[in-house]
Amino acid sequence: MLKAPSEASIKIGKMKGLILSGGHGTRLRPITYSQQKQLIPVANKPILFYCIEDLINAGIKKIGIIVGPNKELVIDTVRSVNWDADIEFIYQEAPLGLAHAVKISEEFIGKDKFVMYLGDNLLKGGIKNFVEDFVNSDVEASLLLTRVENPEQYGVALVDEQKKIIIKLIEKPKKPPSNLSIVGIYGLTSIIFKAIDDIKPSWRGELEITDALHWLIESGYQVRYDMVNGWWKDTGTPEAILEANRLILDNLKTENKGKMINSKIKGKVSIGEKTIIKEESTIIGPVIIGKDCTISGSYIGPNTSIGDNGQIINTNVEDSIILEGTKIIDAGKIVESLIGKEVCIEKSDHLSGGKKFIIGDNSKVGI
Ligand code: G1P
Repeated sequence: MLKAPSEASIKIGKMKGLILSGGHGTRLRPITYSQQKQLIPVANKPILFYCIEDLINAGIKKIGIIVGPNKELVIDTVRSVNWDADIEFIYQEAPLGLAHAVKISEEFIGKDKFVMYLGDNLLKGGIKNFVEDFVNSDVEASLLLTRVENPEQYGVALVDEQKKIIIKLIEKPKKPPSNLSIVGIYGLTSIIFKAIDDIKPSWRGELEITDALHWLIESGYQVRYDMVNGWWKDTGTPEAILEANRLILDNLKTENKGKMINSKIKGKVSIGEKTIIKEESTIIGPVIIGKDCTISGSYIGPNTSIGDNGQIINTNVEDSIILEGTKIIDAGKIVESLIGKEVCIEKSDHLSGGKKFIIGDNSKVGI
């Protein structure tokens, strides 16, 4: 017999999700010249997909995605999957702040409760409990918080632990009043549109959602909070993306759809269809390798993700993310690297011991 849906799940079914997938991702250049940062894969899946899955797993069926630069790429990538939700796209012409993104979504949101999810955030525990707590409460907003070592880089909250409410919010304070950072997931009601209409752009010229939320508190509305369970990552830098890759790969399921010829595998390893591992290669997990790859005479060490159509020949790679279509041949040992699509790294015998680079603006090379 089918179980009747609970009151909370009916309420959540009426909520909306709003994912932010705009912005220029300047700290991730050069990858972000051709790629929207939320599409960078972690364990071979775009970061944005983890956010969509979190909203769907929480029971949200209507999702709006804010797009900006590279909007066609984001739209095409999202549409390449058959999601169990209605997804529409909202175009933000310029990155004028998180509150600006909310403001231009007013028609999509209407009077419904909604969850805003920053599309470059990854949460281990998902948002199911957070969304249930929010929908069952009568507060005007709810935030997820976590303790951090560098609160000055985030929005920071001062809380009343007994009442579980927030009493003050400041965006990137020079002298943080606590080490409780705002995580990029916000439970909001339509009262936020009134707050946004009343705030002014910050020193960085953006309409800050933190200021709009602080406006709610000052105006006597209740803003509650939950603490993050498990890890949270804002994947704004290459180091953070590599760290997210390690954390996600830690839960990798072993699956081998490829072909092994005279090679060894140890630990949690996932290998895609038509991938060939040959010539005494060794793979030590956690490692994910996409489909149609060739790994030959190579060592692929822990915490590595290799996208589809990759070729790694006579090279050692560990703790790295290599995007699809990239070829690495006789390249020695590669560590802690984030390498884009269709890149070619190859040893040459014609350079009289020198090194040859044809690399884009803002690239970083460690030699
Ligand atoms: C934004 C918010 C900040 C929050 C952070 C979480 O910062 O303004 O309050 O702590 O996301 O990722 P931004 O990424 O715009 O610097």
